[in-house]
Amino acid sequence: MPLLKIDDQTFEVPKGARVLDEALKAGIEIPHYCYHPALSVVGSCRMCAVEIDGIPKLQTSCSTLVGELPPEKKFEGQYDMVVHTRSDKVVAARKSALEFLLLNHPLDCPVCDQAGECLLQDYSFKYGHAHSRFIEEKRVRPGEDLGSGVVINQNRCIMCTRCVRFTREITGTHELFVENRGNDNRIAVFDGHPLDNPLAGNVADICPVGALLLKDYMHTTRVWLLSHTPSTCTECTTGCSITVDGAKDRIYRIISRENAQANGHFICDYGRYAFHQYEDDVLTTPQLKDGAEWTEISWEEAYQQVVDRIGEYGGQQAVRALASPTFPNESNYLLGQLMNQLTDKKSIALLPVKQQEDQVFPMGFRISGDKGGNHRGARDVIHNLAAGTQSFHKGDLGVLIVLDGDGRGEITESIERLFAAAPFTVVLASNRSDITRLADLVLPVAGPFEREGTVTNDQGLVQWLQPAVQLKGQARPDWQVVAELSQALIGEGAMYTCAGDVTWKINQTIEAYSQITRFKIGKFGQFVESAA
Ligand code: FES
Repeated sequence: MPLLKIDDQTFEVPKGARVLDEALKAGIEIPHYCYHPALSVVGSCRMCAVEIDGIPKLQTSCSTLVGELPPEKKFEGQYDMVVHTRSDKVVAARKSALEFLLLNHPLDCPVCDQAGECLLQDYSFKYGHAHSRFIEEKRVRPGEDLGSGVVINQNRCIMCTRCVRFTREITGTHELFVENRGNDNRIAVFDGHPLDNPLAGNVADICPVGALLLKDYMHTTRVWLLSHTPSTCTECTTGCSITVDGAKDRIYRIISRENAQANGHFICDYGRYAFHQYEDDVLTTPQLKDGAEWTEISWEEAYQQVVDRIGEYGGQQAVRALASPTFPNESNYLLGQLMNQLTDKKSIALLPVKQQEDQVFPMGFRISGDKGGNHRGARDVIHNLAAGTQSFHKGDLGVLIVLDGDGRGEITESIERLFAAAPFTVVLASNRSDITRLADLVLPVAGPFEREGTVTNDQGLVQWLQPAVQLKGQARPDWQVVAELSQALIGEGAMYTCAGDVTWKINQTIEAYSQITRFKIGKFGQFVESAA
């Protein structure tokens, strides 16, 4: 393997390794704008220039690959490449490149949404000039709406062309291009062909300088006021890693979190804006249907209602349940355990959720058509899962307990028949949905961005859900409500004090999950055994 020396550090790297990648991996700063690991290399911003022994001119480290030299040509008798990232020549080149890139850039950081996470700000602080030598008039252009909720502030653009390459290489939709040349060039769309693809929001994420902005997030807050919670998207079975940026009880935006095992670098716009679906019709108290009206009741009364109605309608053997393909493994597991103890029949099935066609993009990014984000996990952790609800109609049908589908639950003919036939239906949900409207008792639980626990994507990758905002009103964690129901019905469930306790129980009882622990899941997930 070639031996690479960067400044005073030595690395053994694979042949063909990129100098910039190796430096960044080792924590050595090399400023860069146009380079993005998921896109082709254009070497246009010149910020990543480094000095390399044996080469007279500075080289762009994003486009320089490490080769292997014959023994007699090695530097200092051992190195295949010697790179200097902090020499006077390199620093002078960075300063010049930055001065050039800033020629037309406005000094509008106080009103720019990128402030606080802007590479231009960071590098200006280190390499910028305190005074501008530019005495000509700055080029001023109006902002434009590019489509799909993305606007461009042309004045801030430094022409790194990441966004153009994104629509060429990742989505294959080619909406963005560079119009004109020299001082007149700008990012543009063709007349009548706006930015229009389900991954469009990523162009704002990858813009290094605040030129491309999401209308949804623009001027809403400052990034340093937000908490950044690493979590997992459950809007489809791809299970993208995300960062949820919020403050206390409000989510401001969702951005992609790089994870080579799940989504790579990007997320789709369905997942990006999904949090808005859960802002309205939030359930905050247990509610009992009284004719056409809903009455708020306490948690104790709610659990007593379930106990009483089970006694009234056929006893424990007549209870049936629907698990949720969108809820975490923990609440599904506990519901499965409860049903196995209440009845000796296959008494739990999965709530059906809406299905669409998969969407696959040229570089492999996939939006799954299965909108039950934890479909696989729910199947994995429930013993004795019934294939459907047909058998539920045989014999007495009593109380029906349902974990909601987060608005994605589908009311098929058989689900409609089941709800109509069950004399009393309990639904655990975060928001009013088509399913809660059919319920007799609604129990408010954590929504998708308030939940904690594990979810398993369709490749068998188990990831952690981290609560990004606080629970609303009297809502409780989903796993806790199922545990409390179990306590009320069979006297078991009090042993769990957090979601992690249930994860550990799954680890101990479900063979495929015997390697799954909170520690091993970490930030990037862990594959269940059968899927490796
Ligand atoms: Fe290397 Fe832009 S990052 S030239």
